[in-house]
Amino acid sequence: MAIRKIARMGHPVLRGVAKPVPDPTAPEVKALVRDMIETMIDANGAGLAAPQVHEPWRIVVFQAPESRLPEGIDEAEAFDRTAPLTILINPEIEILTAEMEKGWEGCLSVPGLRGAVPRYTELLYRGYGPDGALIERRAKGFHARVVQHECDHLDGILYPQRMDDLTELIFETEARAWLAARAEARESEKEKADA
Ligand code: NI
Repeated sequence: MAIRKIARMGHPVLRGVAKPVPDPTAPEVKALVRDMIETMIDANGAGLAAPQVHEPWRIVVFQAPESRLPEGIDEAEAFDRTAPLTILINPEIEILTAEMEKGWEGCLSVPGLRGAVPRYTELLYRGYGPDGALIERRAKGFHARVVQHECDHLDGILYPQRMDDLTELIFETEARAWLAARAEARESEKEKADA
């Protein structure tokens, strides 16, 4: 096992379309997946796609832990919104709604930045595990978000390309000041409207 070097925005490997994996059960695939998981955990990421470690294959790893759940959510809803550490080879996504929701994202290939990205709120995904078994799940909320983010990497797309307002692309070290300034601006807008 090894921690791999992560490609950063600007490296051509992140812009290409990754290739389907001919045999998800091949030993090289297992070795790559182990490295991807180790690299993701070391970098404290929620997900990682193979092109981010300079491997142009359709493989993603991700997790959607309970700690990312919104408060007060019932058990049935929570089920679709969480995922254990998942390895998905040759993934496919089927979007189930026209509804989109903005949420903050970061990316190990875009270090130091955060952006508010609109994503579909509900989808189905399927792909293969390294044991060759078919994985098929419904996903909502953060779970659906992380799957869309990681699968975008396989088509050469980084999250800033999905943003509709680049004033919401900020350094994470400025997030607190940025959010406070925005809240204040909204408050004064509201006061004007009330007056
Ligand atoms: Ni990413």
